[in-house]
Amino acid sequence: MNYKVFDDSLYKDVLKHGDIVKVVSAYLPVIRKGKSYVAKCPFHDDTNPSMHISPKLQIFKCFVCGTSGNAISFVKKYAHLSTREALKKVAEICNYHDDRLEGIVESKVIDPKRVPLTKCLHDLTVYYQYALNSPEGKEGLDYFNSRKLDAEIRSKFLLGYAYKDGEATCRFLLEKGHSVKTIEDVGIASSKSGTFSDRNQGRVIFPISDINGEVVGYSARRLGEGPEAKYVNSPETYLFHKSDILYNYHNAKEKARIAGYVYVLEGFMDVYALYRINIEACVAMMGTALSEEHIRLLRALGVEVRLCLDGDLAGQKASMNIAETLVKNSINVRIVDSQNNNKDPDEILNTEGERALNAYLNKLIPYVDFVLNYFQNTNPLQTTEQKTQLIQEFVPILLSIRSQLELDSYINKLANITGYTSEAIRNILKTAKTKPEIRDYRSVIMEHHPERKILRRLNIAERELLYQMLKNKHAVAFYEGNIDGFYDSTYRLIANFLIEYAQNNENFVPTDLISSLENSDLKDKEAMINQITELYLERNHPKVCDDQLLNNLEQVIKQERERIFEKDLLEQSIENKDPLEQARIISDYNRRKMRNK
Ligand code: UTP
Ligand code: MN
Repeated sequence: MNYKVFDDSLYKDVLKHGDIVKVVSAYLPVIRKGKSYVAKCPFHDDTNPSMHISPKLQIFKCFVCGTSGNAISFVKKYAHLSTREALKKVAEICNYHDDRLEGIVESKVIDPKRVPLTKCLHDLTVYYQYALNSPEGKEGLDYFNSRKLDAEIRSKFLLGYAYKDGEATCRFLLEKGHSVKTIEDVGIASSKSGTFSDRNQGRVIFPISDINGEVVGYSARRLGEGPEAKYVNSPETYLFHKSDILYNYHNAKEKARIAGYVYVLEGFMDVYALYRINIEACVAMMGTALSEEHIRLLRALGVEVRLCLDGDLAGQKASMNIAETLVKNSINVRIVDSQNNNKDPDEILNTEGERALNAYLNKLIPYVDFVLNYFQNTNPLQTTEQKTQLIQEFVPILLSIRSQLELDSYINKLANITGYTSEAIRNILKTAKTKPEIRDYRSVIMEHHPERKILRRLNIAERELLYQMLKNKHAVAFYEGNIDGFYDSTYRLIANFLIEYAQNNENFVPTDLISSLENSDLKDKEAMINQITELYLERNHPKVCDDQLLNNLEQVIKQERERIFEKDLLEQSIENKDPLEQARIISDYNRRKMRNK
């Protein structure tokens, strides 16, 4: 078996006694539509109700962002709970009593290794806060006041001060019962250095919390100017992974969902600036690059990301990379227009005031415009090749633009940047429209819009077969015996899963199937569940799954696979040839293909 099913009859019992419509209704307004229900999807910035809820299949699915699952996974995703906590919630909502649920408390899964560390950090954070209000802490307090961080912000963000006598701080922790090892493990001091002393000593303290709001590390700023490093950050520890942190995420997640956006800022000083003008849907990166974890966290919010980094060249370049990564991960992004502005939000607020900061934050540019502006202003394109390449990269984007006005303006910009005439760019677009490889590239782009997904012949056939496999064991056996794996990688994963599932389950009940996947440790289960629910909710499939249908599908799949195989071979064979030779081979190939049609 290549997947592990965690045998939890409790999970199935809760689902059996639960009702997805009730559960979703507990969190969102739900509207009846025929036999099913719809709601505005909470996992993306939804304007129409795009989330469908099927009482019959007991699943939900958003047709725009793709999020889907059963009642338990809805609660997990919506309320950011663990599976066990979600079980309890679903049971509560549906009035299902079960003794096995009693022991579950709403808290994170307790990791025994974390406990001494978080306790130690808790005591230390309180100590730092206390020190801030002591006579020596006045220096820190003055500093915070000079930066307009008032009592409310200080207490909300647990700000503090570290005494200059760092050895005394360590002694305090020892007296509180924390071991030398624990103090070392939270990254505060090292006994190897000779003196066992707080490395934050004499600095103001910004505690950094994880997504659950537990302090996991610190950033400590020097007071005022000086030769020492501006910030000392906790080193990497068991709890603290700097590159995974989005500062203020634990506060921002609910706010972002309500607001429909989240600002991503450069540093925590900027978070306080936004709080001061009552924008709480904001997080900050800790001066690092965008990590996989950042992407995961931002996607989980399901809202527009408003990227707000420095306006200098380095900041613009970082924005380019981050925005591109977000777009590739299907996250909506707009960029705060920071051109000609080298101030961060904190500085704007302090020098120009509230209105200026508000205006600044609301000057948002779509991704495509941002990229074009960037090239226009920085002028990094030197050679003709670079310019041509930029145009090639923009071809698919331009082809997907529907508004003529918008298109004209992009073309003009592109002409400015590259020195090509608008006329020339139009011609490139015209030829590109007829080139198959460009169309293929477009379909990649279109994957960001599942509702407009281009279903080609192979895809339609594979999809149909997979649909039948979800309903009939007999189709699964047919696939196993006749099809050499699906071309689509997600379909292939699902098919493999179904083959194993069929060995252990007599009937294919949609809810059970999805539960098994939810509880498996398959890496791609999310994508698989999305695909499966989409298929289940489709209506246009043949009702009868007979031999004739299966044989037809097999034939189409084999034919199309053959073609793709040929094309791949062709591409490999011309890779290193000179352009003239390449052109000859391609036109030969196309002529042959035309004749065979
Ligand atoms: P900035 O230099 O923009 O800091 O770095 P800032 O937030 O504006 O701070 P002030 O206004 O000068 O006090 C942005 C982020 O990069 C990290 C910090 O997380 C900071 O918030 N950083 C910066 C460091 O970790 N170390 C440094 O020495 C500087
Ligand atoms: Mn600053």
